[in-house]
Amino acid sequence: MSIEQLAETAQAMVAPGKGIIAIDESTGTIGKRFAAVGIESTEEHRRAYRELLLTAPRLSEHISGAILYDETLRQSTKDGVPFAKYMAQQGMIPGIKVDKGTAALAGFPGELVTEGLDGLRARLEEYYRLGARFAKWRAVINIGEDIPTGTCIEANAHALARYAALCQEQGLVPMVEPEVLMDGDHDIETGYEVTEAVLRSLFAALYEQNVLLEGTILKTSMVVSGKDCEEQADIQEVAESTLMCLKSTVPAILPGIVFLSGGQSDELATAHLDAMNRLGPNPWPLSFSYGRAMQQAAMKLWSQDMAGNYKKAQDTVLARARANGLASLGQWQGD
Ligand code: 13P
Repeated sequence: MSIEQLAETAQAMVAPGKGIIAIDESTGTIGKRFAAVGIESTEEHRRAYRELLLTAPRLSEHISGAILYDETLRQSTKDGVPFAKYMAQQGMIPGIKVDKGTAALAGFPGELVTEGLDGLRARLEEYYRLGARFAKWRAVINIGEDIPTGTCIEANAHALARYAALCQEQGLVPMVEPEVLMDGDHDIETGYEVTEAVLRSLFAALYEQNVLLEGTILKTSMVVSGKDCEEQADIQEVAESTLMCLKSTVPAILPGIVFLSGGQSDELATAHLDAMNRLGPNPWPLSFSYGRAMQQAAMKLWSQDMAGNYKKAQDTVLARARANGLASLGQWQGD
């Protein structure tokens, strides 16, 4: 796979006015999300729900690609069309979550390291054959008393860089995701310092592992106040802090940056993205790769009446996609 092809895929992922929908919840995570709205987590429910999202009419006007989970990449529409094939027909790029989740970092209480490097080359080979063209790996950084440590940041950055190099070898664009959690009562300045240290470490590790940035997408958290911080930074401050942090750590050659929603409300996630793009021009396209902020309203509707609310749920996910697509251009006018 040439770097030109990887770069082309990466650029298509952040095409003007478009972003990514993250529907790559593991069976455990989707089980929790379903349970919260009273849906039983059977394989057929998981399939039918992902079909509802992926086949929402005109979704591809605002969505360049979707991150799937292993089970979903192997599933099909009710008419028997594999989801990856359906997506390709609609001009949406199939992506796949390839990490195996987090585990406690031994010797460092309260800190996590992401697992999944063993056997990854063979898994990537198969995912490529199944149609995936990009792959996501999520590292999780907790903020708390005396954490994160440099050891935790470096261990996660190293794993992200090893996975990214393997992805490029196998023809998939790595979507490297370091998520600094919003949990805690830290202020936005602390969020800034931690995010800055994490991104510096990540780009140093990517360089050391010979990862070509032209064929890489960064998926990052925004710089925000901790969820329980008494003083919540407003939209403008979040936009300015996030942009400053990114400009001081992320090379301009990167084809694009997308954000996770991380527990922000649907509307706030859109407003933050819109504000950052209004502050442009920026060195890279800034777009979205939201999970919860794209799906939660649609999932709720579907849970209330799977057949009766099907179309309404599709309209709802389309409305989020349209709003976020506009925000990626700095043209959102409110919902
Ligand atoms: P959220 O937008 O719900 O944070 O999910 C995005 C994602 O893919 C996290 O890995």
